Amino acid sequence: MKVGIVGAGMVGSSAGYALALMGIASDLVLVDKNAALALAQAEDISHAVPFVSATTVIAGDYAALAGARVVIIAAGVSQKPGESRLELLERNAAVFRDVVAAVLRVAPEAILLIASNPVDIMTQIATRLSGLPPQRVIGSGTILDTARFRSLVGRHLGISPQSVHAYVLGEHGDSEVLAWSSARAGSIALGSFADQVVKPLTDEVRLSIDDGVRNAAYKIINGKGSTYYGIGAGLARIVKAIAQDQCDVLSVSIVTAKVADIEDVALSIPRVIGAGGVIADLFPDLDDGEYQSLNRSASILKERAESVRL
Ligand code: LAC
Repeated sequence: MKVGIVGAGMVGSSAGYALALMGIASDLVLVDKNAALALAQAEDISHAVPFVSATTVIAGDYAALAGARVVIIAAGVSQKPGESRLELLERNAAVFRDVVAAVLRVAPEAILLIASNPVDIMTQIATRLSGLPPQRVIGSGTILDTARFRSLVGRHLGISPQSVHAYVLGEHGDSEVLAWSSARAGSIALGSFADQVVKPLTDEVRLSIDDGVRNAAYKIINGKGSTYYGIGAGLARIVKAIAQDQCDVLSVSIVTAKVADIEDVALSIPRVIGAGGVIADLFPDLDDGEYQSLNRSASILKERAESVRL
């Protein structure tokens, strides 16, 4: 399967590197307005391939995206230290006006996988600009936040994050919602599991995990300028579900008819992902507090998305 990546900066190239390591795509095409950067990234990733897979990795212009089943859009600017994801909106909306049209001119059948932040609103913008069905315009959403949540809960309980079933919902950003009430470990409600392994989920532990998830990016950005390995692997995970028609349940963002009390908004809930993109939306059981928080997150996104003139 051919996968295109528009935006060969750290996020796009990390996604390409993860895809090459995982051997998911037969062909990777990196496109960037800075052709020299795209070529250098493609060359560098191609030198990793002999150790792990048989992926062909090239740089090219938009025409080279022809035949791509998935095109990752990671173009645009990223957060500066202390800058929120929502503050990137105007700059990245301008970038998308050109990029989405250019991609669909050569790859009209592709699934668009949106990585640029604020990813939920960029997903809504890409859906509006493309005219594609929402199920084929997928934002990485809270796939990374969910991984962070599972990782921190697993670390507290002393188990693999693979055995933690918990989701982060809503905005990939400050208003995201950690769905504690429906979280489970090894099919056991999280609180009961924690008590059984004598690692209780006290309010202090929950607050610490919440902070660790919600503010992970800010801390990493302060330390090294941007995040890219986590999101790169998250993007590759979504491509894997599409490429192998896995029907996995992943928390990703698409324009959704109604979430909580808000209509026509792009945010993350658990969704089934297969060859055609999003196959089904799943609405998790939430307690009253989580429901209100999801409502607030959806409202924030809806209001910001409506502020963008395309
Ligand atoms: C992060 C970026 C991808 O959360 O928004 O690391």
